[in-house]
Amino acid sequence: MTFRAFRIADDKSPGRLVDAAIEELTPGDVVIDVAYSSVNYKDALAGTATGKILRKFPLISGIDLAGTVRSSSDGRFRAGQPVVVTGYDLGVAHDGGYAAVAQVPADWVVPLPANMDVFESMAIGTAGFTAALSIVELEHNGLKPGNGPVIVTGATGGVGSLAVSCLSKLGYKVTALTGKDGEHAFLRSLGAADVISRAGLQMGTRPLEKSTWAGAVDAVGGDILAWLTKTMNYGGAIANSGLTAGTELHTTVLPFILRGVKLLGIDSVMCPMARRIEVWRRLATDMKPPQLRSIATEITLNGLSTAFDTLLKGGARGRFVVKVN
Ligand SMILES: NC(=O)c1ccc[n+]([C@@H]2O[C@H](COP(=O)([O-])OP(=O)(O)OC[C@H]3O[C@@H](n4cnc5c(N)ncnc54)[C@H](OP(=O)(O)O)[C@@H]3O)[C@@H](O)[C@H]2O)c1
Repeated sequence: MTFRAFRIADDKSPGRLVDAAIEELTPGDVVIDVAYSSVNYKDALAGTATGKILRKFPLISGIDLAGTVRSSSDGRFRAGQPVVVTGYDLGVAHDGGYAAVAQVPADWVVPLPANMDVFESMAIGTAGFTAALSIVELEHNGLKPGNGPVIVTGATGGVGSLAVSCLSKLGYKVTALTGKDGEHAFLRSLGAADVISRAGLQMGTRPLEKSTWAGAVDAVGGDILAWLTKTMNYGGAIANSGLTAGTELHTTVLPFILRGVKLLGIDSVMCPMARRIEVWRRLATDMKPPQLRSIATEITLNGLSTAFDTLLKGGARGRFVVKVN
C-alpha cells in the first residue's frame, strides 16, 4: 500500500509530493497513522531548500506529527493510543510528519494529554510547544503575573501567537510587538492588552533604556533582542527561541550586571522528556489557548509550498495545520 508524502531528494531541491511505502520509511519502534502535521519556520526552510536543515536525504520532512498508534514493539505504547511527536530528528534526519504513516523511536513519543485532540496538538505543534516552554522557563526564573507586563515579539507568528494566547490565559498583561499593522485586532483577540508596531519602534542608542518589561518571549532575535535586553525591568528574564530578525546580538553587559537581566535560551528539539511532558500537560490545562481554532489554518499536503512561502516572507498569521490523512 502506498500513501502521499512530501519528500526532499537532496539539499538543492525543494520537496515534492510522491507516493511512498511503509517499507521505505526510517525504521522505528512505534508505527503511527498520522492524522495531522503542521508547518514551522524550520519546515519552510527545509522544504524550499533555503536553509541547511536536513541531515539525511532523501527524507520526508515535517518536524511535527500527531495521530494514532498503529502498532508498537515498545510496551509503553499500544494500538489505538493518540500520540504527538515533535523535535528530536523528526523531519530532519528521520522521516517526518508529512506522510500518512511514520515510524519513530518510542523515546520520542508523547501520549496525547487528556483534554486535547490531535488537531489541537498540531495547532500548537513545535511553535506552540516552544512558546509554552519559554513561559515555563520564565516562570522557573521568577516570572509571575503581578511582576509587570510581558512582551512577545514576532507576535502574529507561530511562536508569538501561541505565546500571546497562553500568557493571557495565565493572567499576564501582554504587549504584542508585530510588523503587521493589519493584525492588531487579531492580537487583541488572542488576549494582548497592548500592541506595538515594529515599524514605529524607537530602539534608542543608550546601553540601558527605560525599564519596561517583567518578561519577554522572543522568537525573532537580532536588533529586537538587543533592544529587549536594554528595556527589561530589574531582574526580568527574556526567553529567546528564534532568529527571524537575525542571528547576531549587539548589546552590552550592562543590562546583565546592573539590572540582573536574565537571557534564557530555549530549545524545543532536545528538550528532556520530563520537561516535555510537563509542558504538554500545561498546554492541555491552565495554559491551554482558548483561541486554537482561530489561530490555526487547515491545509493539506498540496498546500505546503504556498504555506512555506508565506512563512519565509514573514507573512504567516498563527499556525498552518496540515491534514495528512
Ligand atoms: N528554539 C526552538 O526550539 C524553536 C522552535 C520553534 C521555532 N523556533 C524559531 O522561532 C522563530 C519563529 O518561528 P515561527 O514558527 O513562529 O515562525 P513564523 O510563524 O514565521 O513567525 C515569525 C514571525 O516573526 C516576525 N518577523 C518576521 N520577519 C521579521 C523581521 N525581519 N524582524 C522582526 N520580526 C520578524 C513576524 O511576526 P510579526 O509580523 O507579527 O512581527 C513573523 O510572523 C524562527 O526563527 C524559528 O526557527 C525555534
